[in-house]
Amino acid sequence: MKTRLLTLLACISLPLFAQRTSQIRVYPDRGTEEISKHIYGHFAEHLGTCIYGGLWVGPDSDIPNTQGYRNDVLEALKKLQIPNLRWPGGCFADEYHWMDGIGPKENRPKMVNNNWGGTIEDNSFGTHEFLNLCELLECEPYISANVGSGTVEEMAKWVEYMTSEGDSPMARLRRQNGRDKAWKVKFIGVGNESWGCGGSMRPEYYADLYRRYATYCRNYDGNQLFKIASGASDYDYNWTEVLMKNIGGRMDGLSLHYYTVTGWEGSKGAATKFNSEDFYWTMGKCLEIEEVIQKHILIMDTYDPQKKVALMLDEWGTWWDEEPGTINGHLYQQNTMRDAFVAALSLNLFHKYTDRLKMTNIAQIVNVLQSMILTNGSQMVVTPSYHIFEMFKVHQDAIHLPLDLVCDKETVRDNREVPMLSASASKNKDGVIHLTLANVDLDQANEITLDLQAHKISSVSGRILTSASIHDHNTFDHPERVKPVAFNGAKIDKGQLKISMPPKSIVVLEVK
Ligand code: AHR
Repeated sequence: MKTRLLTLLACISLPLFAQRTSQIRVYPDRGTEEISKHIYGHFAEHLGTCIYGGLWVGPDSDIPNTQGYRNDVLEALKKLQIPNLRWPGGCFADEYHWMDGIGPKENRPKMVNNNWGGTIEDNSFGTHEFLNLCELLECEPYISANVGSGTVEEMAKWVEYMTSEGDSPMARLRRQNGRDKAWKVKFIGVGNESWGCGGSMRPEYYADLYRRYATYCRNYDGNQLFKIASGASDYDYNWTEVLMKNIGGRMDGLSLHYYTVTGWEGSKGAATKFNSEDFYWTMGKCLEIEEVIQKHILIMDTYDPQKKVALMLDEWGTWWDEEPGTINGHLYQQNTMRDAFVAALSLNLFHKYTDRLKMTNIAQIVNVLQSMILTNGSQMVVTPSYHIFEMFKVHQDAIHLPLDLVCDKETVRDNREVPMLSASASKNKDGVIHLTLANVDLDQANEITLDLQAHKISSVSGRILTSASIHDHNTFDHPERVKPVAFNGAKIDKGQLKISMPPKSIVVLEVK
């Protein structure tokens, strides 16, 4: 009888213990740095169906479009407040010859996309199509220019073609092709992954090439280029060191690439099939980027203590096996709540380095890797990662607020320590505070006490992204399985906030 009673009590009391507690203290008056809106940047490569079929169907398509751009995709992207879009690669950029993508479509030569499945590229989406898309999305273009197989002259002329207002040869050619006014182009990448697909160079050689190519990227008629050098892969600190030493202030930004990936050989794991251990490993690998960022910044600080050169993480995100039945080399992957957590944890930590980290670009915007949107013919669906970018956009250009976070941590596979809660806070120009929180625990709720110091809280409201299973994702048959809903788990209590977060949930709060 006694044993039965104890068992019963244990069962009854289990839910009481199936929750964690955490404390957050936010300092509303100690913020100094603005979270650059460009941290919320995107990337569109000529890869798989990112451009063709994803963004662009052409004006003659049966799929509803505006001048060739899919209406459904445009409408969804506009809600993200996209600050910048990187194009045309990636690896594709160093085999791309921009002159193939201008002028009458029927005259544009076809090429083989050697990097991505040998697909035939007909160049129907080129400079005009890209820059006009940026105008429609009201975002800054980020041109990734060819160093690996292109000439200095080619790059110099591209800049002239896009940005010169005068009576110059390339401005005349642009006018012949139907565009009178020059575009404004701010960001230009001088090569991509020059240590790999962008030319297999050593850093000393690339540094010299950067100096040469960048010299001829001119500022025409009030256009001010922000020149970005092709940076390191993940843990290659020597690349950063050599470029800082040999390029220094000749660059405005230095890029970095980091993917949440199990490894480059063999299977990377299915996007939708994983166990809890895999999930926590993914969180650990995603969070490891913090140490990587810190170490690159440390090197940059040595050469550039005034932080004139920005760190630009212009490729990041999850990389899983391609979906069965899709074309090899097209990197088409599904996107579950696990990916949403990678997005949330990454963005929360990027905010902390906003004094040096001025841009990041998740790879990629449609149909490739950790995408915002998936399409199939005329169908379209937004992913859980899309919802994170939409929920977190409140931080764009807001003042980052420092905070202390006390929460449980778990040691996961590969000996990585994963905090069970992720948090970030900012204050916008109207004095409104936003908090983004992620309860990483798959099984336990988290009761959070949030102290906002002297800040008088008059109201709190929010939205939550969660789902019955961490594997949940949106499909063309079930496009709204994962979507944010109103969150009522935050209450004002004696000047503080008490927040009850269910397991595996991500929340954005607005505090006035
Ligand atoms: O985003 C896919 C590829 O990953 C890019 O083309 C390349 O730069 C990186 O290796």
